[in-house]
Amino acid sequence: MIKSYAPGRAELLGNHTDYNGGLVLSIAVERGILVSGEVRTNSEILIYARELRQTYEGSLDRLEPSTEKPWANYLLGVFDEFRKRGLALGGVDLTIQSDLPPGAGLSSSAALETATAFFLRHAFGHGASLDNLEMARIGQAAEHRYAGVKCGLLDQISSIYGKAGHATFIDCRSFEVKNIPLPDDLRFVIANSGVKHALVNGEYNERRESCEAAAHALGVHNLREVDSATLERLAGKLSPAALKRARHVVGEIERVSAGVEALIQGDAKDFGELMFTSHRSSIENFENSCPELDRLVEVARTVPGCLGARLSGGGFGGATINLVEPGREAALVEALEKALPGTTCLVTKAANGAHVEA
Ligand code: GLA
Repeated sequence: MIKSYAPGRAELLGNHTDYNGGLVLSIAVERGILVSGEVRTNSEILIYARELRQTYEGSLDRLEPSTEKPWANYLLGVFDEFRKRGLALGGVDLTIQSDLPPGAGLSSSAALETATAFFLRHAFGHGASLDNLEMARIGQAAEHRYAGVKCGLLDQISSIYGKAGHATFIDCRSFEVKNIPLPDDLRFVIANSGVKHALVNGEYNERRESCEAAAHALGVHNLREVDSATLERLAGKLSPAALKRARHVVGEIERVSAGVEALIQGDAKDFGELMFTSHRSSIENFENSCPELDRLVEVARTVPGCLGARLSGGGFGGATINLVEPGREAALVEALEKALPGTTCLVTKAANGAHVEA
């Protein structure tokens, strides 16, 4: 029996920067997905999703997205990516177990892709051909092709490279990944608003296109190539909407650099302020927040010991992340759940990334 585990992730700073060649800070959370099972002697794929009590039955010879069991697409897309890379696979008999609520802003999809990719790499002996960055790319490609979301690499990299007690810093231009120690004993509260605005994927892909168009109009490869001062100088080249999108991304990249500095200095308060500023920029520039997330952030600001709060991930509903001093998390959770009925909170520290137990 092979057991492959991958955690969910939370984005600390650096919103919508990953597909712009930018910088991101994230953590892996203490919840995740376990994919366990055995290799078969034929090419059949059998997947049992425990929480859903559903089974998917298919074959390696007929890999295609499933409309009936969309949850299986996160695995099937990964199978397909191995195939596309010429990496031999056989059939499998898998069980998925999860304590990561789907749709809670913790990227359960990336956790599932990552756990699947780690299972297959181990089970079919592809350790020498696939480094961890390539594993993240496999998950991302599965998401693009089988789930239709043109995501960056933040979610998969965070799920793979996360380290207990550390933030994960990702440079999405060089793909340098570093673990940076977090100041002692900080807790994170991830507040899932329960709100999911329609067309989330469409909005996400539209934002990505606007950023790419803005970079093109500025004559650069991607928005990583400009800083705030240059952007303001060239503002006339962009439509008012494109300028706002670019301001968010460029500002976020600069806030990640400042955030790294704050972490190195052990200054959680400064880091928290950057989180509040990030949220303001989501409201004003990227327009990927919503009244419910704004309410959660406003309330968090009034709770003693809460150092920072912002939306985490794609936006348009979903979750906020809050940075909180030890001992203050229960009061924060209570305040958030009261402020917006339907909100559910997860308290977590930074956790380790994906791994296989054979
Ligand atoms: C989602 C995507 C990531 C990233 C964030 C926003 O989580 O999957 O790739 O773009 O949104 O930062």
